[in-house]
Amino acid sequence: MPAGEHEFVVVANRLPVDITVAEDGSLDWERSPGGLVTALAPIMQKNDGAWVGWSGKVDLEHEPFDAEGMRLWPVTLSGDEVARYYEGFSNATLWPLYHDVIVPPEFHRTWWNTYASVNRRFAAAAAEAVAPGGTVWVHDYQLQLVPSVLRLLRPDVKIGFFNHIPFPPLEIFTQLPWRQQVVEGLLGADLVGFQRPGDAANFLRAVRRLTDLQVRGPQVTIPGRWSRPDRTVRAQAFPISIDAESFDQLARTPEVVERAKRIRAELGNPDVLLLGVDRLDYTKGIRHRLKAFGELLEDGQLRIPEACMVQVASPSRERVDQYRQLRDEVEVTVGRINGDYGTLGRAAVHYLHHSYPVEEMAALYVAADIMLVTSLRDGMNLVAKEYVAARSDLGGVLVLSEFTGAADELTHALTVNPHDIDGTKATIMRAVGMEKKEARRRMRGLRRRVLEHDVQRWADDFLGYLAMSVPTPPEMGTVAAQPTTPEQSTEAASGTDGRTATRTRKQEAP
Ligand code: G6P
Repeated sequence: MPAGEHEFVVVANRLPVDITVAEDGSLDWERSPGGLVTALAPIMQKNDGAWVGWSGKVDLEHEPFDAEGMRLWPVTLSGDEVARYYEGFSNATLWPLYHDVIVPPEFHRTWWNTYASVNRRFAAAAAEAVAPGGTVWVHDYQLQLVPSVLRLLRPDVKIGFFNHIPFPPLEIFTQLPWRQQVVEGLLGADLVGFQRPGDAANFLRAVRRLTDLQVRGPQVTIPGRWSRPDRTVRAQAFPISIDAESFDQLARTPEVVERAKRIRAELGNPDVLLLGVDRLDYTKGIRHRLKAFGELLEDGQLRIPEACMVQVASPSRERVDQYRQLRDEVEVTVGRINGDYGTLGRAAVHYLHHSYPVEEMAALYVAADIMLVTSLRDGMNLVAKEYVAARSDLGGVLVLSEFTGAADELTHALTVNPHDIDGTKATIMRAVGMEKKEARRRMRGLRRRVLEHDVQRWADDFLGYLAMSVPTPPEMGTVAAQPTTPEQSTEAASGTDGRTATRTRKQEAP
């Protein structure tokens, strides 16, 4: 296969822009908010990067184009492919399977076949884009077969894979009829990154059980064939983070601080404002949180209007059955709590089924006394980290589910088991009654962690390990920006700019 020209290629299910097509066929795009693109943009610019992904639109065909200082490489998906690869296999098979089977995963051979063929298409696009000896970084559960397909097409490139969601225990993973193919797909990479050490351990256990390969510590050895030498695959945790400094700065701006005050005033200046912010997903434990809050009102431990809750539930995967069902359940529960405990002009739960701009989210975080993150299973949970980054005033208390990746790092939070409703209620009341001094001490500890371990450092760590994991022939380069010490990586993090910029550009149709 002829090589492309990009030293660094990111492959993710979605492109990092929201695209709209005008009537004359021209494209408009706006950078979609998200830590991943913010962390990778400087590396892309330095290394002539390309980003391979789906536009989010059915049947959108477009040549690669330049935006945001990188080349965007759209992969086209038909309506059938969206239904089987994205809504089906990715989000109704893998997503529930990898999240502790909170809802039953569905196994359909037609979905699997489409998942495999769409993965081949992503791999072919990456193979076309990447320069000789370049680096390809593949992201998340939608694309687990890309590493092995890409290795066949382009054995000369370094391949990294990062799984943003949990990797399940063997007993659950082995339910998947195509478990072997998935493990072999991932083993096409040189470095497979996970959120938590436990996820990496689960993966290595699956490799041991499902293959004959030798596993030593974090390394798997793949024996060479013919003239090809042995190669090793490393599986390791790299906990992802947010663009903490930008978030911190944003939350300190007078506009955000003023908006936070207005939000509180609009809610009637409650003594206790509880906040939940999630994609409307059954992994997030929104119903458990509402149940705990409802019972606290019922017991009289909390009262309206002295306390109130804001729940932002941004729309997600709305064509998948389990998500539709969840929406109905959450909305019935909110309606019931408001019916029982709300008063004229004062709701108990302010439920918002929208997405908001990052400024509004920052204002909500600054306004909230208690942030409730009650996921039943969550790869990381970046909302928890955003809340912490927004609280330079050292106010607020974070209540955090022990089933999030973030709980491994955010040890100064109040942790809860969201299945234990009494325990969750007791923890919420502990947060309500917490002395200012203790709350500030905890927030200070949380902020130290989040500000030091930001998304830039995460990307630099991963790419640093990837560069080290493969011997590079002298004539070939490595991707820039691989600090080796925490100090260097913090310097790298503070050297980036324009991280929250959202720009719109026009692109002519070909
Ligand atoms: C999670 C996944 C991402 C995904 C995001 C939004 O964070 O790890 O891969 O992009 O949810 O979901 P969506 O299906 O809208 O892309």
